[in-house]
Amino acid sequence: MKRDFGTTTKGEHAALYTLKNKKGMEIAVSDYGAVLVKVLVPDRDGNLVDVVLGYDDVKGYEAGTLYFGATVGRVANRIGGGSFELNGKTYKLTQNDNQNTLHGGTEYYDKRMWKVEAADESHVSLVLHSPDGDQGFPGEMDIHVTYTLTEENEVKLHYHAVPDRDTLLNLTNHSYFNLSGHASGKVLDQEVIICGDAYTRADKESIPTGELVCVEGTPMDFRKGKPIGRDIESDYEALIFGQGYDHNWALDGRGSRQAAAMYSEQSGIEMKVYTDLPGMQFYTGNFIESERGKKGAVYRKRQAACFETQYFPDAVHKEAFEGPVVRAGEVYDTVTTYQFSQR
Ligand code: BGC
Repeated sequence: MKRDFGTTTKGEHAALYTLKNKKGMEIAVSDYGAVLVKVLVPDRDGNLVDVVLGYDDVKGYEAGTLYFGATVGRVANRIGGGSFELNGKTYKLTQNDNQNTLHGGTEYYDKRMWKVEAADESHVSLVLHSPDGDQGFPGEMDIHVTYTLTEENEVKLHYHAVPDRDTLLNLTNHSYFNLSGHASGKVLDQEVIICGDAYTRADKESIPTGELVCVEGTPMDFRKGKPIGRDIESDYEALIFGQGYDHNWALDGRGSRQAAAMYSEQSGIEMKVYTDLPGMQFYTGNFIESERGKKGAVYRKRQAACFETQYFPDAVHKEAFEGPVVRAGEVYDTVTTYQFSQR
């Protein structure tokens, strides 16, 4: 189902596509920013709960600076110093996070109109043409993102692009999840599992030092699952620098596998995150300050958590980190899945 989602200040008409499955789940995606606007999941009593933060219309997304539901590229997370070298050439990007580049740096992908290539009850495919020099990155390509809602209550995000020159690519989705409902307050009592033995240590500006730190015996250990808030105020360097969790975990294993899980005792809704990427930024909404969102809700600090699957931050400057260089003609193809269930 397609409906009007409002008009941008530039006069662009945005649409909202709603997908439904037979299990009662429903999601909504806009062609403005390829943003995931709604994720309605039945709770343990069968009532539909919207588990992502967002806005009512395109104007909210246009004005927003927190990347609610955003498709982020070309390079999600940070590039230290706002520049990089590739094939002997230096590329300068916008320094929008101290001296560094965050989430593409400027001309964000979630602030552009995407073209809908196909849509039905179970999927919507969007494409963005990214020209050579876009945000300062070399190479031109069409970036395809397909959202699929399956009968297994999975929201599947498939990314596909083939650049015509060597470049960097690290796409992610920046949805903010609150499994008790987007308007329900803080997520500190919701439980999280992260399937990673280590995280990438970072400096005060969240740029990795290159070290992998084992989570054993630290507040970063989510391997067995614990409430988000249990250790979040610990006197621990990473948590002080990030003002809470805002770090990349080195996920165990390779190929498509579970990266994380989240559970709300209040609603009984559980989410499992699967990805084929090596890392995941777990971010606990530390920088949300009284943001007016959907249906009059006011979102505050730690009202949601993001599970941003990706190549490690600043990988372009770290010999030991995989990615995010994609060669000319090489296929960039990756899938992240958020699966919902009740208990
Ligand atoms: C970053 C945070 C940042 C947030 C923006 C996350 O991916 O790691 O530091 O504040 O995005 O909403």
